[in-house]
Amino acid sequence: MPEIRSDFIADYDSLAHTWWDPRGPLAPLGWIARARAGFVPAAPHEGARLLDVACGGGLFGPHLAGKGYRVVGVDLSALSLREALRHGFDAVARADIARLPFADASFDVVTAGQCLEHVPDPFAVVAEACRVLRPGGTLVLDTIADTRTARFVAITLAENAPLPGRPPRGTHDHRLFVNRQRLLRTARAQGVELRLHGLRPHFGDGLRYLARRREEVRMVPTASTGVLFLGVGRKR
Ligand SMILES: C[S@@+](CC[C@H](N)C(=O)[O-])C[C@H]1O[C@@H](n2cnc3c(N)ncnc32)[C@H](O)[C@@H]1O
Repeated sequence: MPEIRSDFIADYDSLAHTWWDPRGPLAPLGWIARARAGFVPAAPHEGARLLDVACGGGLFGPHLAGKGYRVVGVDLSALSLREALRHGFDAVARADIARLPFADASFDVVTAGQCLEHVPDPFAVVAEACRVLRPGGTLVLDTIADTRTARFVAITLAENAPLPGRPPRGTHDHRLFVNRQRLLRTARAQGVELRLHGLRPHFGDGLRYLARRREEVRMVPTASTGVLFLGVGRKR
């Protein structure tokens, strides 16, 4: 199993001031957060709780406003958690997402955006996410598939193009990209039948973003789940 880079969390601490820069290296995460929010149902009851696993700087927070959840975030980057608290998160915990510091069945919704492809054992994280989800609750996750196309798009192209919104070189390690069949099996074993949806940037928005005529790029559905994909399911 590949080892996590020991300086990976330090990278996020040092990037924490860029979370909310629409042309900064983390900008595409905000576009994906908007798409992810479309899969989060309105809170089923008063006091419902949503856990955002590896919440980073809280880019998901504004997209949850009005859905009625108490929003909790967990991440290892302390400076990022500080940002999350400023952007719609009600509480945060500094912890490893492979060992969530929460009781079984304690959340109505669990989300895990763009983090599985950064950890040595993404399936342990998925199992943890399912453990803290209550029966009937919704799991929403998004990540990068372990395909050659994803390696080309997410690393060769995205990390090397001299464009705004480019993640720093070395952000992704293709050996950590996620096997979809194993992801489905892991969630199923925990009682969550995931449905996968492919996502890609809206090409016209991408061009307008580069021409500085838009500040955000919409993410749109695509038939292929072979690069960026989202998984959604309810726990039995
Ligand atoms: C690409 S960012 C995604 C952040 C957020 N989910 C979003 O989509 O904007 C990855 C995040 O995972 C966090 N992270 C990586 N490994 C982690 C671990 N083992 N435990 C907790 N957080 C972790 C990093 O600190 C970073 O905030």
